[in-house]
Amino acid sequence: MIDLLSDEEFDLFRTVIYKECGISFSDTNRSILDSRLNDRLRETGIPTVRDYYNKIIADDEEMKVMLDTITTNLTRFFRNQSHFDTLSNYIIPELVNYKKSRGETNINVWSAGCSTGEEPYSIAMLLKDILPSSFTFKIIASDLSLKSLMIGQSGFYVKSRVTGIPDNYLKRFFDETNDGYQAKKELMSTVQFDYHNLKHDSGLRNLDIIFCRNVLIYFDEAAQLEVVNRFWDALASKSYLFIGHSESLFGMKTKFQFLKTNWACLYQKNV
Ligand SMILES: C[S@@+](CC[C@H](N)C(=O)[O-])C[C@H]1O[C@@H](n2cnc3c(N)ncnc32)[C@H](O)[C@@H]1O
Repeated sequence: MIDLLSDEEFDLFRTVIYKECGISFSDTNRSILDSRLNDRLRETGIPTVRDYYNKIIADDEEMKVMLDTITTNLTRFFRNQSHFDTLSNYIIPELVNYKKSRGETNINVWSAGCSTGEEPYSIAMLLKDILPSSFTFKIIASDLSLKSLMIGQSGFYVKSRVTGIPDNYLKRFFDETNDGYQAKKELMSTVQFDYHNLKHDSGLRNLDIIFCRNVLIYFDEAAQLEVVNRFWDALASKSYLFIGHSESLFGMKTKFQFLKTNWACLYQKNV
């Protein structure tokens, strides 16, 4: 067990973490940083926090591992059901009508900060269920946690992780194995997992829906605004942005319109 970070070391790490990925550590969550770095020092055998700091500055790969180590990847299938109700009852009917009027038949979704894949697979199951057969869709799922992305890419979840999936979806989209559930190819092929750090432009454009839930909560307002402005550029006209239940763009100067539906609140690019 290393000693807790000194004030100076804490400042060094929180500054570099903020610069690299927008995550903001304050005195209230300092102990999380302490314990995550502690774990990584133990794994690498690097003796001191200062040595580890020098290592991440010199080594891009270790920087990525460090960022992965300090992220919180908590997620679950159909998290915040009201968002999925909004998708099926409001957004998809609206988008289908709009797209039809333009002779388009594809829907592009981005799950930004997808963690271990439960969010993009939940969206994929729903779209497979409710989209008219003349429509196709594609989901990009991105995160900076490589460990999480590998789980998403494998499509395998232990039994305790699939509790939020309705029975009919579980039967239709997963094969039961001895120790868990394996997503079927027809589901997996609709989700493309990619490493992406939200600190940078993704290059994605013309998206219809972005889910970025329970991610911005770890950023300060300046970093949130940068990310949200990049989402604006990535979205098509008449498109939608979901953020987490406990997150809000209130008081931030963005071009998004607040949208209150019967099921949940979200944001719209209505130009
Ligand atoms: C709490 S999980 C949320 C997962 C899912 N969106 C949900 O709501 O269940 C937050 C995720 O955001 C990712 N994350 C944090 N900062 C990020 C950044 N700068 N770029 C990309 N992903 C980031 C973390 O790695 C983590 O997997």
